[in-house]
Amino acid sequence: MAKGKIKINTPPPSTPTAPQPSTKYSGVKHTIMIMSGKGGVGKSTFSVNLAVSMGKTKNVGIIDADINGPDDPMLLGVSKDKLHVENNKIIPMKTKYGVDVISMAFFLPDDSTAVIWRGALRHKAIQQFLEDATWEGKDYVIIDFPPGTGDEALSVAQMIPEVDGVVIVVTPQDLALLDAKKAINFAEQLHLKVIGIVENMSGFSCPHCGTVTNIFKTGGAEALAKELNIEFLGKIPIYPEIVQHADTGVPAVESSEEVRKIYNEISSRIASLVEK
Ligand SMILES: Nc1ncnc2c1ncn2[C@@H]1O[C@H](COP(=O)(O)OP(=O)(O)OP(=O)(O)O)[C@@H](O)[C@H]1O
Ligand SMILES: [Mg+2]
Repeated sequence: MAKGKIKINTPPPSTPTAPQPSTKYSGVKHTIMIMSGKGGVGKSTFSVNLAVSMGKTKNVGIIDADINGPDDPMLLGVSKDKLHVENNKIIPMKTKYGVDVISMAFFLPDDSTAVIWRGALRHKAIQQFLEDATWEGKDYVIIDFPPGTGDEALSVAQMIPEVDGVVIVVTPQDLALLDAKKAINFAEQLHLKVIGIVENMSGFSCPHCGTVTNIFKTGGAEALAKELNIEFLGKIPIYPEIVQHADTGVPAVESSEEVRKIYNEISSRIASLVEK
């Protein structure tokens, strides 16, 4: 190697130490992964609202695969409850929105406890969420991913067998779109089908004067979808009801007619792409 040059080895995704797909996660009709190229774009918000929207007509569960930031129970209004075990199987938590959920949050003493486990233990937790919980009979299981395309997302993706595909959540700024390309590339390298991309935080319509302000720009995800020849699933603007959702535990699809309509369209689109 020439002096001053550093060679970085990039092993393929499937190395001998890679987590293996679970053989015990079964009886689920469709499994969808919700990913993004970076954190904070709205994966958990999207996963929960999509699940509640789909849950009106289907039997739906959510696996909160974000061990360090397990937000989904809180977004479904059940953060303080404990899980039940029957016949050595974990019963996913029922919520009043007709969607069952499993999350690291149920195993922590309180909302402020940090999980400081290394990779192997986090993988074990995800494995238990998949294998030791009762998912049989679900029409859809939605998996809310940890942020980004790093080690954690890679191991979750490798552990889940028979995935129908991935939905990528994107915000419309240029940098976020660049990260979204990485997420799409990540999915492709793992031979996961990209169902499509959703543009979240796509403009803000003032509830007082009706003026639309494109805080993070708008339209970038649709252009990206066109460029990469993948499905564009829709735009979700910034809504005060979605901001409040994180505080109240009431999904915005339940509190806002406008948000419900948008999510119903996106969930029908996803179902038709997955079930065709
Ligand atoms: N369309 C929207 N309108 C208003 N607020 C939104 C919208 N989408 C997401 N948010 C807010 O943005 C914040 C981040 O959302 P969320 O936690 O769902 O992102 P995330 O991608 O799951 O984050 P992380 O990568 O940390 O898991 C939350 O406070 C959420 O309420
Ligand atoms: Mg999240």
